Amino acid sequence: MKSSITVRAPSSTANLGPGFDVFGLALDAFFDQVTITKKGKGIKIISSDLIPKNTQKNTAGLVAIKMVKLFKIKSGLEIKIKKGVPPGFGMGSSAASAAATAVALNKLFRLNLESNSLVELAGIGEKASAGSIHYDNVAASVLGGFVIVKTKPLDVIKIEPPKDLVLCLAIPKLKVPAKKTKVSRSLVPTKVKITDSITNLSNAAAMVVGFLKKDSILIGNSVKDVIVEPARQQMIPGFLKVKKNALKTGALGVTISGAGPSIIAFATRKSNLKKISKSMEQGFASVNTKCEIKICKPCKGAYIIKT
Ligand code: HSE
Repeated sequence: MKSSITVRAPSSTANLGPGFDVFGLALDAFFDQVTITKKGKGIKIISSDLIPKNTQKNTAGLVAIKMVKLFKIKSGLEIKIKKGVPPGFGMGSSAASAAATAVALNKLFRLNLESNSLVELAGIGEKASAGSIHYDNVAASVLGGFVIVKTKPLDVIKIEPPKDLVLCLAIPKLKVPAKKTKVSRSLVPTKVKITDSITNLSNAAAMVVGFLKKDSILIGNSVKDVIVEPARQQMIPGFLKVKKNALKTGALGVTISGAGPSIIAFATRKSNLKKISKSMEQGFASVNTKCEIKICKPCKGAYIIKT
């Protein structure tokens, strides 16, 4: 049996507008790299990045604790994490480390787990940052492409995205609260008007059809969320301006990426991506906020780079 394995897992955007906690899309914007080595006793987290090193508080640590217990893994583990996905900006950073850990342990200990089990185990890591478990980011990071998280029981459906779908991510240089996802989730309304539910449901359904038909225009035009986005935009200064600018310069749809504060614009290869990016940058500049722009595409899920 091998004694070490390295897995890379991609960033992801969750919700995609109307699909709160249900839709996820793996993005090639950033990657986390996790190397797990059978070593010593217990589970040790090593990283030079600014992340919790306490196993109980670390995303990857929580996944490993669960898997060690569940599969009666006897050997000690050293988990080396190289963060590529910036934590706290709504791009599935915790999910990427969790997904890479679940996939790595599955391979290292020949557990032969199927994808729903991998997603379920990776989801445990979300507790470290979000305070509760949600599967949209981890599902995208494990499986790649566009995912629909069906719950009770958990069943993830994956659809290959169209080749011409391109995304512009605007990542504002804002100070995010320590438990940002938890804070952001506390803003989500607990009661929803039936008319708003109809709007979101119709757009979510249309978006799924867009992915099935490989129709990027239908996907982009369906990025409409009248429930969660209005409640969360207060966390992102300049949100409405950035959104308006991107739509004006040709973006098909614009929304908050996951729990924010990054903003994601949906476009195609034919769109003027430079113009859209610039307009988003200007939107943030109007509230004196700098931002990093990342033009990215959907991508495959976690993969082994070294054993
Ligand atoms: N669906 C989750 C949320 C994603 O919006 O809270 C968090 O990364």
